[in-house]
Amino acid sequence: MKFYITTPIYYVNSDPHVGSAYTTIVADIIARYKRMMGYDVFFLTGTDEHGQKILQAANAVGKDPQSFCDQLASRFKSLWEKLDITNDYFIRTTDPEHMKVVQYFVKKMLENGDIYKGEYHGWYCVPCESYWNEDEIGTDKLCPSCGRELKYISEENYFFRLSKYTNALLEHYRRNPEFVQPDFRKNEMLKILESGLKDLSITRTTFKWGVPMPEDPEHVIYVWVDALINYVSAIGYPSDVERFNRYWPADLHLIGKEINRFHSIVWPAMLMSVGLPLPKMIFAHGWLTVDGQKISKSLGNAINPTYFVEKYGNDVLRFYLLRDINFGKDGDFSEKNLINRLNSDLANDYGNLLHRTLAMIQKHYSSVLPAPSKYDEVDEKFKDDVLSRIKEYTELMDEYSLTQAIEKILEILMLANKYFDEKRPWVLAKEKDFSNLGTVLYNVCESLLKVAVMFSPIMPNSSQEVLNRLGYDSKPSSEVLSRWGVLKPMAKIIHSKPLFEKVEIVQQKESEPKVENLIELDEFKKVELRVAKVLSAERVPKSDKLIRLELDVGELGKRQIVAGIAKYYEPENLVGKSIVIVANLKPAKLMGVESQGMLLAAKDGVNLRILTVDGEIAPGATIS
Ligand code: MSP
Repeated sequence: MKFYITTPIYYVNSDPHVGSAYTTIVADIIARYKRMMGYDVFFLTGTDEHGQKILQAANAVGKDPQSFCDQLASRFKSLWEKLDITNDYFIRTTDPEHMKVVQYFVKKMLENGDIYKGEYHGWYCVPCESYWNEDEIGTDKLCPSCGRELKYISEENYFFRLSKYTNALLEHYRRNPEFVQPDFRKNEMLKILESGLKDLSITRTTFKWGVPMPEDPEHVIYVWVDALINYVSAIGYPSDVERFNRYWPADLHLIGKEINRFHSIVWPAMLMSVGLPLPKMIFAHGWLTVDGQKISKSLGNAINPTYFVEKYGNDVLRFYLLRDINFGKDGDFSEKNLINRLNSDLANDYGNLLHRTLAMIQKHYSSVLPAPSKYDEVDEKFKDDVLSRIKEYTELMDEYSLTQAIEKILEILMLANKYFDEKRPWVLAKEKDFSNLGTVLYNVCESLLKVAVMFSPIMPNSSQEVLNRLGYDSKPSSEVLSRWGVLKPMAKIIHSKPLFEKVEIVQQKESEPKVENLIELDEFKKVELRVAKVLSAERVPKSDKLIRLELDVGELGKRQIVAGIAKYYEPENLVGKSIVIVANLKPAKLMGVESQGMLLAAKDGVNLRILTVDGEIAPGATIS
């Protein structure tokens, strides 16, 4: 059986953040789960590289759009590698093959009479690359989706007869109640459909960064039409019939809620127009805020997922995102909550149980897994409870209730901890009751094996580690979940360091990832900071701000610097101080006096204090 899953293709106008990572991680979890359950999975992600927004972003940094996109696309790719994303293909809309398919697709729509030329007058949001009708926006002319200013445009465009498909779409929704999920998102789409659709402008003439319209290259195809077609071009439409037929229709388009209309209305209508089957399901998940704020560059709180991966490990980030944010709903990302989940769910309930159990097997059975003996009522109940939670887990995973599925795994851990405490294996050991002790330890290990397998789509690395420690040398599989007693007695276990390290919450650290303009150490190293001794100082004539300083910079010789500090210092008080200067700044003239560097000073809006060194140090000393 096949399973084709996609993420949105991400705009490359800026670096990926924790929001884009969220969708990709969720898709990866589902893809891994389906593979584990025996499906032939095709998992697609990629980048959306055309349109006005990308062009503007490239222009803003003085780059040609293609090399700008190349650079950004590779940043997305390398982040996905860091996050252990197992996509089978990465599509870019600037791939020439994709561009040809877009033209082919649009030509088919044209041939089918679904595209006509007309005049577009109306409002456009460049950041969302979306058109809005007059009745959808208020008098302030702000984008109903992102709240930014709309642009009035008036151009000759090609239009797609979207209106024609209103009834066919309603009918499709009626026949396929799971077409759009969750239900409350489906209802939002039904409202739009019930109020009737307007035709959609699908070309632009005011810029060239896009796929040219077949036979009318003055027009470029609207970025959304171009982008949506990626879902079929990536699997070989129309030339690789075999591959395309194998994977199409997609089983799941996973998207964020703000682009539901494009996926659940525009895309199905486009597919109907060319006569292709519709995707089986579109799942629109909620949005993440960060510490209660919308993720946005301008707000300066775009969060870099790499920071969390490096600090806590990839598994922890993935677990946290699914555990703490109820999948489907909006949710808030906070480092503090991540640490709490790590400490309680992972380090305590999971890692600690593994640690206690394997420590006892090491001590009392020389690291060889004991065989269970006769089960009493408590053992039987524990086994049945675990197996029933596993069943619930698979049902929940199958309907994409991912957060609830994780809760089932955590319930097993709770049961296993309770079982361990009730059975008091340390007492059994003291009493040398090795038959009952072996049963308890075996059962806990068996439950931990199940937990590791259930966690494996979410936390692949730690799951593999647990499998190794339990002496289980096959891959995680559905077989492990189907019956009790998978672990082989006599297997060699490995008792090792804690699976998850606990982390203390340090308040001030929380703000670290919010710094938007992070630089590399190499960039900082370009600034040459030195200690300089003030030899003399005087006011610059006719200036009430400037002081000229004669400095001794050791091996760099004598320098003069002009600084705007006259309101805060008397020149004579500066003489003899060891201050900090930027020694490799290009010289500049201030009030006709050359300044060969810059001194460092701290300002708080009221006061200004120059930076000095703490104690004696030679002039010219380097600072790092
Ligand atoms: N390029 C279009 C999609 C075309 S698909 C044919 C686009 N790109 S985007 O870069 O803006 O990415 C949008 C997707 O990123 C969202 O749909 C969502 O999946 C994810 N997210 C971006 N910000 C997010 C949050 N703050 N929270 C959760 N997901 C977010 O739209």
